[in-house]
Amino acid sequence: MTGGLPVNYEELLSDVAAIVSSESAPVDKLASICELLRERVAHYDWVGFYLVDPASPRELVLGPYSGAHTDHSHIPFGRGVCGQAAEREEMLVVQDVAAETNYLSCNPDVKSEIVLPIMRDGAIAGELDIDSHDLAPFTDDDRSFLESVCELVSGVV
Ligand code: SME
Repeated sequence: MTGGLPVNYEELLSDVAAIVSSESAPVDKLASICELLRERVAHYDWVGFYLVDPASPRELVLGPYSGAHTDHSHIPFGRGVCGQAAEREEMLVVQDVAAETNYLSCNPDVKSEIVLPIMRDGAIAGELDIDSHDLAPFTDDDRSFLESVCELVSGVV
């Protein structure tokens, strides 16, 4: 929800980098990043990773997340905002999910969503997905910050 303190994205990115370079197991690093982002950014209400299993390369499988339970644990490429971002291998920003026809609803409180591919060796290895309960909350600062998060996480997924 809106109304939190202004976000210091630079500081937050160095906190993400510290988690990435820690000794924790990869899955624990991803879980910690989800918790950190959700806690520190008021308009990030659900933060999660979807992963691509090389054995099933056209499907996203839910990885660590922070926020409400979602039924969408397996998403084929092309379906929903996540599946479209995977198909196109590009960031998708949906500032109003009510206006998006190819959308998989997890929770009626969600108003907007941003999804970024995580690329490794030229192929999609996963995604970072963030839902917000606010309409149109995502700024250019969110986009560039989250792109940097995905670059850092590329070696973890
Ligand atoms: N809304 C997503 C599904 C995943 S949930 O947001 C966690 C979509 O349309 O792909």
